[in-house]
Amino acid sequence: MRHSTLRQLELFEAIARLGSFTRAAEELFLTQPTVSMQIRKLSETVGMPLFEQVGKKIYLTDIGHELNRTSRAISEQLANFEMIAADMKGLKQGKLRLAVVTTAKYFAPRLLGTFSKKYPGVDVSLIVTNRERILERLANNLDDLYILGLPPADADVVEEAFLENYLVVIAPANHPLANRKNIPPELLAKEPFLLREPGSGTRMATERLFDELNLKINIRMELGSNEAIKQAVIGGLGISVLSRHTIELDKPTKKFVVLDVRGFPIKRHWYYAYPAGKQLSIIAKTFVEHLRQASQEKPVSNRVRKTVKKPPGRKRLQTKR
Ligand code: PGA
Repeated sequence: MRHSTLRQLELFEAIARLGSFTRAAEELFLTQPTVSMQIRKLSETVGMPLFEQVGKKIYLTDIGHELNRTSRAISEQLANFEMIAADMKGLKQGKLRLAVVTTAKYFAPRLLGTFSKKYPGVDVSLIVTNRERILERLANNLDDLYILGLPPADADVVEEAFLENYLVVIAPANHPLANRKNIPPELLAKEPFLLREPGSGTRMATERLFDELNLKINIRMELGSNEAIKQAVIGGLGISVLSRHTIELDKPTKKFVVLDVRGFPIKRHWYYAYPAGKQLSIIAKTFVEHLRQASQEKPVSNRVRKTVKKPPGRKRLQTKR
């Protein structure tokens, strides 16, 4: 095993977690042949196959399961070591690994920018992917902190809301409902709707609201990004529900409008979260402070007014959702 590299183990762990060579290659920004070659080398070093393929799915072999346990223990130990080293150096050097849901990319890079200016020695990495994948990463403790629309109710996480997130209905500027006030939501069910992909938090919140109203969404198309949805709305393919953050920079173009629908905007929050029991590094703790401060500098309408108190004797923070 001495001939295997940490990089090979990282690749192996990603395939085991994602159940796919293609997704692991995407996540690590590698080509699939590189991934296959490195895994072949790793299997040769072990002397047994690590995966087996049944139909289109791949499964870990028994020895693969053993290696997965070992490699996760190694990466946890390394992460702990990195944290100890970074804490010893204080905030002068170290790494912050942040993973955020797709929609948070409209504000998270700016927050990282101001943080990096304050702490130029800190290396920051940002993973942007949809809610479902963020939850997988959180469950596997792959990053320092997560930003998402709603932390999972069934997982043991420390969480805190730091910013308001309003979901609005957008339509092309020339839409017949564009100038109407107080539109009954029943009318939305008649409109062709553009929805984010399954696994998206925006989609989940939209579906929940329609369910509560006993309405069915008339799905015209599913699209994998907020930007694609905006272009499709401008192109007249339908209407959609998106976070207000996604349209802030488009306002001057006036190519689409926010419809005044009863029950909207859907009021949500942005949360930071991490697995309960995880020891945050000094850098991650400082970033949390930075998030709190930055949200206080927002216009009052965007701030989270409810202050979060740590219940005595409990680690988990909770806010009303
Ligand atoms: P999404 O998440 O980017 O996956 O839609 C946004 C959210 O959870 O509000």
